[in-house]
Amino acid sequence: MLLQHRMDFWWFPHMWSHMQPHLFHNVSVLAEQMRLNKIFAQEHGIPTDMGYAVAPHHSGVYPVHSQLYEAWKSVWGIKVTSTEEYPHLRPARYRRGFIHNGIQVLPRQTCGLFTHTIFYNEYPGGSKELDKSIRGGNSPHVNFKLTCKIHCALSIQISIFMTHLSNYGNDRLGLYTFESLVKTLPPVKLAEKYFQIFPEERDPLWQNPCHDKRHKDIWSKEKTCDRLPKFLVIGPQKTGTTALHSFLSLHPAITSSFPSPTTFEEIQFFSGANYDNGIDWYMDFFPFPSNVSTDFMFEKSANYFDTEVASKRAAALLPRAKILAVLINPADRAYSWYQHQRAHQDPAAINNTFHLVVTAGPSAPKDLLALQRRCLNPGAYATHLERWLQHYQPSQLHIVDGALLRTNPALVMEGIQRFLGVTPIFNYTQALMYDDSKGFWCQRVEGGRAKCLGKSKGRKYPEMSPESRAFLAEYYREHNMELLRLLNRLGQPLPSWLRQELQSTSWS
Ligand code: A3P
Repeated sequence: MLLQHRMDFWWFPHMWSHMQPHLFHNVSVLAEQMRLNKIFAQEHGIPTDMGYAVAPHHSGVYPVHSQLYEAWKSVWGIKVTSTEEYPHLRPARYRRGFIHNGIQVLPRQTCGLFTHTIFYNEYPGGSKELDKSIRGGNSPHVNFKLTCKIHCALSIQISIFMTHLSNYGNDRLGLYTFESLVKTLPPVKLAEKYFQIFPEERDPLWQNPCHDKRHKDIWSKEKTCDRLPKFLVIGPQKTGTTALHSFLSLHPAITSSFPSPTTFEEIQFFSGANYDNGIDWYMDFFPFPSNVSTDFMFEKSANYFDTEVASKRAAALLPRAKILAVLINPADRAYSWYQHQRAHQDPAAINNTFHLVVTAGPSAPKDLLALQRRCLNPGAYATHLERWLQHYQPSQLHIVDGALLRTNPALVMEGIQRFLGVTPIFNYTQALMYDDSKGFWCQRVEGGRAKCLGKSKGRKYPEMSPESRAFLAEYYREHNMELLRLLNRLGQPLPSWLRQELQSTSWS
């Protein structure tokens, strides 16, 4: 199959005179440019309903300039575009497609027809080279995939072509190229077909635009790669991540992301649907740092820890980030999550004891099993950490002892500061104070008063029953052993609770 082009398409880009969309920050101005072009097209009887457009020099397509996608959709109703920049120009065989903001982006490769290639016999390297290129070139992304991934089980060949206007004159090499291929499909149909064949490519993997020179060249001057975090607090939930977040924010050189109004203040970018919003959306949660080298921006999203895709996505955008994970006894974490759900009126938590929840068998009601999963799964710490370590170096990962964070936060915060390399070292013994009525460490504010976390953190509830504790000690025994092996391998100290847990379970 071949992406069907019409001649008018080439001398009819979506904007005036090859202007690059990433130079337009204001989406209305960009849309206005497109509107002018559309009016021109309509006045001259040029079709405007193809649903397909390309951007000059790939500008705005990848790295994504969200303004281009908005303007394309509103003015032209664009549904399909293509680029050779995702994920990078080379090697070409790794090029992939993705879908952003409803626009399907197809991978593209250069077939070698440029403005100056107009005569068959003068094709650089001889006409044989042209024929070779037509059949896929050096590194035919799509053909390669069909050959290697599907072992030719599918006889469909997808080639997406774009060429210069001059190739339609003289020897008409553009037409020659297209006619050498058999079947054509209009752009929108072709894109649908492509993502049917390669559904795994629908979700993009966002990268830092400043890590590739070509990407940087087509990245808006009004945007900066400095509005990205230097470190992440990844969770898991209920281990003291909010306390850690608030303590970190007291540090003069550390700045947290702005709170998200929709997801309990956390951005939750790498773990779910927010990722589809793209990096412009993500960066808007961070201020412009006043000093890039000394300012430490971070965000805390506690479900990153155990969300399958989060580590891969985080590493693609923030390969140099440092990662903080807070671990408490997974049995206590499970119980805290259960209490959290009770407080949020989850019927499965209200109508069942904790013991019933954690011991439920596979035939239990769905909502009970869903709650069980959320209680138990994050506590398989080693499994989740191993996934993060597939994408980050051990030196980038710091395990915070959540039990110690609770009892001696100043000590823990000192270790974290050394790990991050942040200066000056901030003295938390003065900034924090223990509050008897809360039963936790809080921020010391004016007048020697304590400012503690809200009611939802450090809840009062009965102790876990000995039966549940015994059940969970057994349930997590192997997971904790794995964690022990992992921390030993990494040369990281063992959290106090892990030592205790392993000692008590080895005697039982
Ligand atoms: P409980 O409310 O079950 O006691 P997270 O912020 O990751 O959701 O974790 C919440 C847990 O943090 C609380 O669980 C509490 O035990 C723990 N925690 C640790 N230090 C705290 C502090 N200084 N203030 C409040 N809660 C703290």
